Amino acid sequence: MKIKTNKLMSSILVFVLAVTVLAFSGCVEEDENKVIIGTSADFPPFEYMDDDGNIIGFDIDMTKGILEDLGYTVEVKDITFDSLIPSLQTGKIDVIAAAMTITADREEQVDFTDPYYEADQSILVVEGSNIDLENTIDLQNYTVGAQTGTTGAAWVEENLVGNGTMSAQNFSRYDTYTLAVLDLINENIEAVVLDKPVAEAFAANKEVEIIETIITGESYGLAVQEGNTDLLEELNQGLSDLIGTEEWNTLVETYF
Ligand code: ARG
Repeated sequence: MKIKTNKLMSSILVFVLAVTVLAFSGCVEEDENKVIIGTSADFPPFEYMDDDGNIIGFDIDMTKGILEDLGYTVEVKDITFDSLIPSLQTGKIDVIAAAMTITADREEQVDFTDPYYEADQSILVVEGSNIDLENTIDLQNYTVGAQTGTTGAAWVEENLVGNGTMSAQNFSRYDTYTLAVLDLINENIEAVVLDKPVAEAFAANKEVEIIETIITGESYGLAVQEGNTDLLEELNQGLSDLIGTEEWNTLVETYF
């Protein structure tokens, strides 16, 4: 009787093990083929929503294209900019494609690909506003907005608020640049600091204009979780195969 029970037990155990192994291998296979891109879709022409609520833009087409060529299924998630790195670290997303500047601070938290785009900051105001700046620091005399966690916000913090020249109250941080520009148009703030190519895109579609360029010499990179070298190498290979090709030029012409 004892032997029989043991036999039964071990057959059950083998069965359970087999089912577990099968179930897990199924999961892994599915996960391995899917890559989730995280972005903050408020940053035309790099990432934004079309009229039907689809997330489109230069970064999205570029990153999707590279990943799909590698055989991955791709999903794009819209997340506020300052939650992108935490989402990557906790595995909610696999890649950040968000016109994210490669900075020393961020390098400590994620792995960046090679750079794919260069940009400076700029100051955006309402068309015909009488804001008068002899140099960028004069912005301390006005109310200013930027997206939380961006290099634009960091520039305001370091150069205007940080050294005590501008009252912290005069600086508003927004979840998205869409909201910052809306507040600018509604005249709740007087200026927005943001990446120049994006300011140009807003200026082309709305009653706003760039009055100053702030030379910061930033480079955008895609980001993956620290140590995810397989995906990093695939993305770097994809970028170097794409940059400078006909396909790349078409992408640039479509969005810029
Ligand atoms: N390049 C700037 C930064 O890295 C701004 C990026 C904002 N991106 C966005 N999708 N809203 O901080």
